[in-house]
Amino acid sequence: MIQIEELEVGYGRSVVLQGLSMAAEEGRITSIIGSNGAGKTTLLRAISGMVRPRRGSIAVRGARLERMSPREIVRLGICHVPEGRQVFPELTVAENLRLGAIAVGSKVDEARQQALVFTYFPRLAERRGQLAGTLSGGEQQMLAVGRALMAAPDVLLLDEPSTGLAPKLVQQVFRIIRELNRREKLTVLLVEQNPRLALQLADYSYVLVNGRIAASGSADTMESEAIVRSFYLGSAGHGGDAPACPAVVGLGKEQGD
Ligand SMILES: Nc1ncnc2c1ncn2[C@@H]1O[C@H](COP(=O)(O)OP(=O)(O)OP(=O)(O)O)[C@@H](O)[C@H]1O
Ligand SMILES: [Mg+2]
Repeated sequence: MIQIEELEVGYGRSVVLQGLSMAAEEGRITSIIGSNGAGKTTLLRAISGMVRPRRGSIAVRGARLERMSPREIVRLGICHVPEGRQVFPELTVAENLRLGAIAVGSKVDEARQQALVFTYFPRLAERRGQLAGTLSGGEQQMLAVGRALMAAPDVLLLDEPSTGLAPKLVQQVFRIIRELNRREKLTVLLVEQNPRLALQLADYSYVLVNGRIAASGSADTMESEAIVRSFYLGSAGHGGDAPACPAVVGLGKEQGD
């Protein structure tokens, strides 16, 4: 569904993505795993039209996105849930949700989408009149995902939805993402720093190191801790025998709730 070839993206004189190629299959969850500064957010921003690639191509169902505006890309059914949630704190939950629908104009049935969002996130229904800035971190994350769902997307781009959430809440948010993928047939591209979480959720994963894909595979093949660990820690600047960073310890050993 998403086909990226030889993508080069940079800011000023720096090159962040250096000829990145990858694909995300329709109806699947694909994850991009990488450490701080690897270029994960830059990749999602390039797909959603917020930064222009210098070279390469991004195609979604055959449509080329590189020259499209963010608005045109949203209208194609591609919605980005940005890093750090970025809800509008002075607006209520319901008003934040409305903005998600307004982004695509008359294309969506707002009432129907809101009902769908409230089915998946009943907490948002209870708090629809509350200012978004006073929601807890987890509730804000749910609102950020809910706002994207208001646009009735086919593709959801998720930037580190686990950040700042307690493990139990992360499991809850991830369970909902999987349900959306299965029941609403959403194609999901998930960016994560935590490889254990990403592999647990995704059907297929890519490891991004310094703007390039260093490894890829299904959870089964990537389960081999050594593979991900070597790429991941290599990118983080550790030596071979350096202590593993906490995110990598326990890879493949799923934590219970
Ligand atoms: N607007 C910008 N101007 C200049 N440099 C930028 C800009 N945005 C990102 N960068 C740089 O690009 C590189 C990749 O950043 P990016 O945000 O894509 O990384 P990331 O993989 O999402 O990291 P994190 O896990 O910390 O969110 C970093 O070195 C960053 O400093
Ligand atoms: Mg990022």
